[in-house]
Amino acid sequence: MEAQNANRDKLIVLKNIRKSYESKEGSILAIEDITFEVEEGDFVVIVGPSGCGKSTLLKVVAGLLSFDRGSIKFRGKEISGPVRDIGMIFQEPALLRWKTVIGNILAPIELMGMNKKEYEQKAKELLKLTNLGGFENKYPSELSGGMQQRVSICRSLVYDPSLLLMDEPFGALDAMTREKMNLELLEIWRESKKTILFVTHSIPEAAFMADSVVALTDRPSRINEKITIDLERPRTLTTKTENKYDEYTEKLYQLMRGEFETEVAG
Ligand SMILES: Nc1ncnc2c1ncn2[C@@H]1O[C@H](COP(=O)(O)OP(=O)(O)OP(=O)(O)O)[C@@H](O)[C@H]1O
Ligand SMILES: [Mg+2]
Repeated sequence: MEAQNANRDKLIVLKNIRKSYESKEGSILAIEDITFEVEEGDFVVIVGPSGCGKSTLLKVVAGLLSFDRGSIKFRGKEISGPVRDIGMIFQEPALLRWKTVIGNILAPIELMGMNKKEYEQKAKELLKLTNLGGFENKYPSELSGGMQQRVSICRSLVYDPSLLLMDEPFGALDAMTREKMNLELLEIWRESKKTILFVTHSIPEAAFMADSVVALTDRPSRINEKITIDLERPRTLTTKTENKYDEYTEKLYQLMRGEFETEVAG
């Protein structure tokens, strides 16, 4: 009974995940051994060197890729394929160019065979929340990159998944837009009480957003360190002027530098 209670608030539990790809040149080991947990409501950020296996890890958690060894439990149940309660946001917005903004947001509803009419109001509320009110009938080509990414965030929120997996969602944006999007996402997270697993290359972004950061080693990835980010919420632009924030970013840079040096020496 006690053990059950101890696991109650764990939304995802990954144990000893190993994942390799088979290619013509042989087998590529992307993930060697990854174990961590995410509690309901947490904002967890994954950082790691380029090519270490971050996207692979997210796709495995999304149930989009199989893995060689280990187990992933979502709400205590083993994941063996895509789960409706998990939404994924890819690095590229990947909107359907022949559909309007609202058509794109409702596309997953259509795909799941649910009634689009029932979700229209929700879609409009999400557009307002992401400052896109009034843009519902525009086409993706009429929007900036940041706006397109916000549409893809609305698309993943419309069917209300409890867990959002975000793979470098703001990587292609300029620094100013990215900062704005970070604040908007924290606001959405706070209001919707979701759990977020977020991948980024950017250490300042990781320290600013996270409750905890999982730092991965170079490929094949293992966990280098898990750091709890104990900065007050809600986070604002003044968070970045705090000494503690600088200490966290410095610590994360040191970890990443270590990985880079191994990469160069190796
Ligand atoms: N479909 C695939 N087939 C074979 N190898 C793959 C495939 N997808 C990824 N890989 C390899 O697995 C490793 C990890 O790739 P992955 O895309 O997960 O890295 P990443 O950490 O997301 O990189 P980045 O930071 O550049 O986005 C890389 O060596 C990559 O070449
Ligand atoms: Mg990637």
